[in-house]
Amino acid sequence: MASLEIENRINSLINQINYHNHLYYQESRIEISDYEFDKLLEELIKLETQYPQLKKNDSPSQRVGGTVLKEFASVEHKRPMLSLANTYSEQEIQDFDNRVKKNISTPYEYICEQKFDGVAISIIYENGALVKAVTRGDGTKGDDVTNNVKTIRTIPLAVHGKDVPQNFEVRGEIFLPLTSFEKINDELNKLGKQTLANPRNAASGTIKMQDSSVVASRKLDCYIYTLLGDDLPVFSHEEALIKLKEWNFNVSPTYKKCTTLDQVFDYITFWDKQRYTLPLNTDGVVIKINSFALQEDLGMTVKVPKWAIAYKYKPENASTKLLGITYQVGRTGAITPVAELDEVSLSGTKVRRASLHNADEIARLGLCIDDYVFVEKGGEIIPKVTGVDLSKRKSDAHPVQYISNCPACDAALVRQQNEANHYCINEKGCPPQIIGKLEHFVSRDAMNIDSIGSKTVENLYHAGYVKSIIDLYSLTYKQLSTIDGFKDKTINNILDALEKSKQVPFKKVLYALGIRYVGETVSEKLVAHFNNIDNLMQASQDELVSVPEIGEKIAISLVEFFKNEETKNLIIQLKQIGLQLINNEIAPVAESDKLKEKTFVISGVFRTVERDELKDKIIANGGKVLSSVSSKLDYLVAGENMGPAKLEKAQQLGIQIISEDEILAMLV
Ligand code: IVH
Repeated sequence: MASLEIENRINSLINQINYHNHLYYQESRIEISDYEFDKLLEELIKLETQYPQLKKNDSPSQRVGGTVLKEFASVEHKRPMLSLANTYSEQEIQDFDNRVKKNISTPYEYICEQKFDGVAISIIYENGALVKAVTRGDGTKGDDVTNNVKTIRTIPLAVHGKDVPQNFEVRGEIFLPLTSFEKINDELNKLGKQTLANPRNAASGTIKMQDSSVVASRKLDCYIYTLLGDDLPVFSHEEALIKLKEWNFNVSPTYKKCTTLDQVFDYITFWDKQRYTLPLNTDGVVIKINSFALQEDLGMTVKVPKWAIAYKYKPENASTKLLGITYQVGRTGAITPVAELDEVSLSGTKVRRASLHNADEIARLGLCIDDYVFVEKGGEIIPKVTGVDLSKRKSDAHPVQYISNCPACDAALVRQQNEANHYCINEKGCPPQIIGKLEHFVSRDAMNIDSIGSKTVENLYHAGYVKSIIDLYSLTYKQLSTIDGFKDKTINNILDALEKSKQVPFKKVLYALGIRYVGETVSEKLVAHFNNIDNLMQASQDELVSVPEIGEKIAISLVEFFKNEETKNLIIQLKQIGLQLINNEIAPVAESDKLKEKTFVISGVFRTVERDELKDKIIANGGKVLSSVSSKLDYLVAGENMGPAKLEKAQQLGIQIISEDEILAMLV
């Protein structure tokens, strides 16, 4: 193709893709299939890769991501991102309105809208093009997540129109639609992986991912609710929302203009029930003064505007009958009691089960079967039992008797001192433990045999083919072909993945064995110290405890595990199969002993180095990296988004907390 022809083709592809995107996202209509759409996009990407000089800044190809960042640059907000005053009480809404009335003499209107439960974002446009997207951060500066935000298809990459200001900013809430959230969790579940706790965490985790193509695959969405700029063509919040919609931003149609406080209360009551029909979680209503001029007159305090307030719904609470308690058996044999409830509607979903954690929790609640219990749902998926409605208790009610035998295999349960859970110790004969251990073995952070998900493990177990991890490696094509729905491709994928897993490093194999208390970090420490399985198997409890960070509990668990004849046999067989039971990873080369005898805990995400890199650097300079904060720790290296528990503990213990820059300065 001649250069002009290529340019024309690129323009035509961009126009077609934008047109179909618009139809799909703004008008909920389609004219072509997903396949045809993908073909257009594919062709565009191919041409842009071949002729990078013809790639446009606002090309829809950016939606597929592809940039991988190690760090997010910190960007100062031109205007601070404020928060909102919150209240749970109608009286305080009345008080808010009284303050407004006192401070402005003209009539005023409110715009009521949903308080979306997502992640706040600021997006900057210059000359009609999206140039930057920044998270809220601490309100004054946030992270530059532009590449990730560009993958969200309802956020325009370019805005055209005669009244579009040269520079403007929009703000809104990024969210993971509930349907996408459920789909992702279903998939994670099938793969036997940890599910996402709630849609908001999922959205904030996704927007901070380093690989934008993964972000693109997660299908985030974004509601825009603020327009800012110096020469805006609008003078009120309502006009701004209408304009934003006209410029193709995704504006939730749920807002409403209210001229009286009664209308505001009607809006609150209406949406208390209706909000469950929305595509995302909302946790309240935001009430804003409509006129920009009046907003300015009312002004703001240091943190919050005086022209807006958020009314938050109390977490929904329902009372229902406790029909019984069932007990689940985890892969380690830990027993988890679950409340079986008379179905009740809670936060828009039907609830039949709630978690009860352990025997102590049941005792604390003083539960009796047939009691009416209160269940509450916070942001989490699984509701919890918060109390008993004693007014409804029958006089002859009997307290729940915790089980003494395993519900799956009937073995006697054991509860060790200082343990919250009861355990079934019939490890080798208890089906849920066997299946759970197999699921753990194949899981992503362990052997990463991703073609075998939870369902497959169950099928293989029930078909009698796999009872231990050894059996996985003797699976045959013939056996696999008897599993329902398994075709040539699936079978070969499984056999290939098993073969490939023989290269998985020792630290992963050790973790995959599912020894109680041996998580990923502990496994890493053990492998670094003992180097191979034979040394580890021969280690005494004392030797194990002498390894930094290996406590008595872990040491006892390891000694118990390895002294078992079956374990010894298992290890011999794993060696024969050819799994990695020797550490072949190269240890960081020693650079200096600057950090000799100093201990560090690293937490959070870092701007200029990967966590593992930082860890290696500390070790290479003589320091030790630990996984938990204790009074003996020298430094806590605090990255962004670090766990609050670690920070709090370090502060309580007076541990020195240092930043990324400080640790890097110690290393030069
Ligand atoms: S307006 C100064 N409108 O709530 C105005 N915020 O507590 C502040 N939020 O950081 C923003 N829905 O992430 C506004 N309809 C809505 C909102 C909303 C959710 C979040 C936003 C903000 C936080 C403030």
